[in-house]
Amino acid sequence: YVHDSSQNASFFVANEIADLIRQRQKQGKMAVLGLATGSTPTKVYDFLVKFHKEEGLSFKNVITFNLDEYFPMEPDSIHSYVRFMNEHLFDHIDIKKENVNIPDGTLDKEDVREFCEDFEKKIKDAGGIDIQVLGIGRTGHIGFNEPGSSLISKTRLVRLDRVTRLDAASDFFGLENVPTRAITMGVGTILSAKRIILMAWGEGKAMIINEAVEGSIRESVPATFLQNHQNCDFILDEAAASEL
Ligand code: GLP
Repeated sequence: YVHDSSQNASFFVANEIADLIRQRQKQGKMAVLGLATGSTPTKVYDFLVKFHKEEGLSFKNVITFNLDEYFPMEPDSIHSYVRFMNEHLFDHIDIKKENVNIPDGTLDKEDVREFCEDFEKKIKDAGGIDIQVLGIGRTGHIGFNEPGSSLISKTRLVRLDRVTRLDAASDFFGLENVPTRAITMGVGTILSAKRIILMAWGEGKAMIINEAVEGSIRESVPATFLQNHQNCDFILDEAAASEL
């Protein structure tokens, strides 16, 4: 779906999420959201906050799972995805703290495996992810599943690609400050979501969107695995769609 602006596209996505939440409220059920960080989803979060403040959309029946977090990372660091999510969404809505799940960047390395297994179990116990929101990295990563990530990969500790670290370098005031690792949901975790919405804005994403949508399905571009999902849409602005 190609929208004339990222603003309109984000409004469209936020409405789909709000509709799911309202529908589940009526049924007395929880809505399970998979959330992403980065600049791409911020307008969606702005709209969700607006719907909460102006239309009374409640998040009391919402459980969230975030895709990834740098490792190691303290939650109060300006680079932390915990802090990002609090500032962009959670601090402004009525979600219950116990329903928020974000990979933990403070763990000792030997505890990571157990944490990841537990993260997967929590997703299953919640009934699976209803809507997974995704951005895309220049390497074709989804979450932090870099080239080489397998179709069946689960939540785990990964090494970041140099291109990804270079893209993050200005935020971290230098490449040497960008963590070399992260904890991320796997490709398999992402693909098990009932619905997937990948968003991309701007010319800088046009080449990788072309690869993801029209390229052959392969580990070297993990986003191509989305082609096999039964209910996955790419929501783009005109610039991101310009190579299609
Ligand atoms: C990071 C995140 C991804 C995100 C990507 C793109 O690597 N881990 O989940 O999709 O950046 O970021 P942006 O949306 O800022 O272009």
